[in-house]
Amino acid sequence: MTFDTCGIIGNSSALQGVFRILAKVAPSDSTVLVTGESGTGKELLVRALHRNSKRAEKPLVPINCGAIPRELLESELFGHEKGAFTHAIRTKVGRFELAQGGTVFLDEIGEMDLALQVKILRVLQEREFERVGGTKTIKADVRVIAATNRDLEEEVSKGTFREDLFYRLNVIPLILPPLRERGPDILTLARHFLARFCTEHRSSALEPSPEVNAILQNYSWPGNVRELENFMERMSILCDGDQISVADLPDKILRETGVELPPPALVAETGGFRWPELSDLREHQLGLKEFLDHIEDRLLAQALSEVDGIKNKAAELLGIKRTTLIEKLKKKNML
Ligand SMILES: Nc1ncnc2c1ncn2[C@@H]1O[C@H](COP(=O)(O)OP(=O)(O)OP(=O)(O)O)[C@@H](O)[C@H]1O
Ligand SMILES: [Mg+2]
Repeated sequence: MTFDTCGIIGNSSALQGVFRILAKVAPSDSTVLVTGESGTGKELLVRALHRNSKRAEKPLVPINCGAIPRELLESELFGHEKGAFTHAIRTKVGRFELAQGGTVFLDEIGEMDLALQVKILRVLQEREFERVGGTKTIKADVRVIAATNRDLEEEVSKGTFREDLFYRLNVIPLILPPLRERGPDILTLARHFLARFCTEHRSSALEPSPEVNAILQNYSWPGNVRELENFMERMSILCDGDQISVADLPDKILRETGVELPPPALVAETGGFRWPELSDLREHQLGLKEFLDHIEDRLLAQALSEVDGIKNKAAELLGIKRTTLIEKLKKKNML
């Protein structure tokens, strides 16, 4: 059988491990629990699981357990009979019924409350359920795949997730590694997204400079692939020329990877002073506080260098107390 990875890009050994399990588990009917930090591609992986299963021609029905108010979730999942509760004007078919023959994707399962967890456990064990307010038992011919960015074992020990449901879901665990552990994939994905967004947003191609590539590989990507994707879209819109250079990178990335950012230039080309404009913040991709911090760093450093580091003289130049100056220098690690 040819295997469809559904656009999951990457060739790192960490991801290849995931593909190996995916290829084995997709054609089976087992329940799978996909875990991984936010933005690691859990949804893509679930789509690949379904696409490569015997149920591929039947629906994949997702439901985001974290996005639906808890009092509505049960009826979303299992449907309800007319008159089951005040606003149940007509009978509603739930997601488990819509998915007959296919797959139900319980996304953000960690957000589901304990009362509903019992009902999911029953569907998994007995393969049947009732609509809310209904008496007829309905057979559930569905495969269940769940995903979460929470550590469910920890939730179990805190008592917020049922242990029996955890074991029932975790028949096959599929763990998506964070992007920072996927080494070469960072640049492969960066190039892939850049190519895509450049076609969409500009007439010319764009590529990261070698320094930028090194920085991208060192950054921790807390938002994982989603963060990288959004970042490349931003670059495709904001960058002039055909290279992303270090100066184009946001302060957040530069700080974390230990790259010194040149302080914002406040002196206009003509030489005279001008007040900073909002566009300066935008140009340097800084927030107000970071921007002001840079200005302060620069003025403190200038004052100190003018008076050969003598603090009370520098304080005098700056019009602040010596103790205030020392406090600031300590905070900024400039002492
Ligand atoms: N390996 C990959 N190759 C290509 N695109 C990817 C990859 N992983 C993730 N993406 C893209 O990154 C974005 C986030 O992925 P996805 O929504 O699957 O993450 P998630 O783990 O479900 O996140 P969350 O926990 O926030 O729901 C999507 O646009 C997806 O297409
Ligand atoms: Mg998701």
